[in-house]
Amino acid sequence: MDVLEVGSGFGGMLDHLVETAGARSAHGLEPDPEMCRYVKQHAGPGVSVENIGWEDFVPDRRFDAVVGVSVLEYAARSPSPSPQEEIDALREFFRRAHTWTVPAASLVQEVTIAGPAGLSEKSAQGERNVGEDLGAPPGKPPELSHVLTAARGLWELVSVETHRHAWARTMDVWLARARRIPHPAVEWQAQFLDASQRYFELERDLLLTGERSVAHLAFRRLDGHGADSAT
Ligand SMILES: C[S@@+](CC[C@H](N)C(=O)[O-])C[C@H]1O[C@@H](n2cnc3c(N)ncnc32)[C@H](O)[C@@H]1O
Repeated sequence: MDVLEVGSGFGGMLDHLVETAGARSAHGLEPDPEMCRYVKQHAGPGVSVENIGWEDFVPDRRFDAVVGVSVLEYAARSPSPSPQEEIDALREFFRRAHTWTVPAASLVQEVTIAGPAGLSEKSAQGERNVGEDLGAPPGKPPELSHVLTAARGLWELVSVETHRHAWARTMDVWLARARRIPHPAVEWQAQFLDASQRYFELERDLLLTGERSVAHLAFRRLDGHGADSAT
């Protein structure tokens, strides 16, 4: 199986796909040049990456599966898109993913979503502040219903599971690890570490209150009768 990872970061998932999950190849798309360089330097057999966002990707082959973790949050490129802007941006992702893949391909996305409790203005401001301090692109966790609407006619929903408490535990583990890192002497590194700790703490709390949640979504590519044209 040839797998495409959208937003491959430092390549942990790419390695896992090839070394453990049985993929023949794993190709990553990553707009951050530093992360991309790191993956290129450490890539084992079957792992490749290109320094590009999914919006500009033109594949030279078709993939059996597309995976991604925390990428759809940035699809609308805005901290406050209207519902229609959010759906349109997500649909563009699903439309393109359709063109990258073979018939009956799988598409799996893990995405932070709006939680069942709704987000207070104080929490929204906290997220914006820490996002800016981390240098994150403008984005917003989408409504789950918008993700499902955007995929309709292109990708059949196979399963969806939300698991905010598991992610809250993950944030706690990451926070504990970050707190064990000695205070960096370099100013920007110290600021980044501080912002990371505040991010883990805030997201843990928002996941526990239900202001945020996380969804694991699996889809199968739709083709033929009933499927919308993707091209
Ligand atoms: C949570 S990280 C993924 C980490 C990765 N799974 C790993 O194992 O290291 C999400 C990544 O998506 C990337 N990203 C953000 N916008 C993107 C876009 N438009 N196209 C592709 N990747 C994007 C970010 O730079 C970030 O590295």
